Amino acid sequence: MIIAPSLLAADFGKLEKEIARVHRSGADWLHLDIMDGHFVPNISFGPAVVKRVRPLTRLFFDVHLMCSKPEILLEPFAAAGANQMNIHVELGNHVISLLWKVRGLGKKAGLAINPPTSISIVQPYLHLIDSLLIMTVNPGFGGQSFIHEMLPKIQQAREWREERGLKFHIGVDGGVDFQTAADCAHSGADAFISGTTLFHQRSLTAAVTKMRRIVEAARFKTARRASNGAQSSSFAR
Ligand code: DX5
Ligand code: ZN
Repeated sequence: MIIAPSLLAADFGKLEKEIARVHRSGADWLHLDIMDGHFVPNISFGPAVVKRVRPLTRLFFDVHLMCSKPEILLEPFAAAGANQMNIHVELGNHVISLLWKVRGLGKKAGLAINPPTSISIVQPYLHLIDSLLIMTVNPGFGGQSFIHEMLPKIQQAREWREERGLKFHIGVDGGVDFQTAADCAHSGADAFISGTTLFHQRSLTAAVTKMRRIVEAARFKTARRASNGAQSSSFAR
């Protein structure tokens, strides 16, 4: 299970201190949102910032490219120290070559999907990815409300992963708080990207620990329900 604070919600005026907070917090990944002002109506930061913060921590850097032309950014972000790069499935024809390019650069490959896009679109790529990032808000801004209608997408992705014996992470991104993290865990998510909820607590460490406990409890409950269900159906037979 992965807890990934999203740097977008950090105080950019004291980035070094914010990275140090994440480093100490017990988080698994640092999620880095890259916005180009075209694919989404906002601009965040580029490879120079990632390169600058890279020496501050050994955390896994999960780079989320909300960009219309990721092909021009993959090499710079790889060189800057990304560990995983997520491109969007909405880029259509380019998706396969982008995923191969990420792999060719020796990085993990992630595929992100926006709320209005049907989950069936990701199906042909599942064997090529390390992570599926299900957007639970329309990308572009932090601090938005979680879209509950995305929960069935998580269930579907999990079913496909089981059926096909694949191992990619199922991540959720946007509006993930302590309650919606539990809902996503019930549905089968295992990577929880959270900006506002984690960064806006006085103790990021306590917030990461709390989210991890809540997610673990939700997964335990779901697993127990599933095994009770299996038992009662075998009694019925
Ligand atoms: C949204 C970004 C998210 C964002 C999540 O466009 O992709 O990663 O930082 O932030 P919160 O948790 O505040 O919704
Ligand atoms: Zn993101």
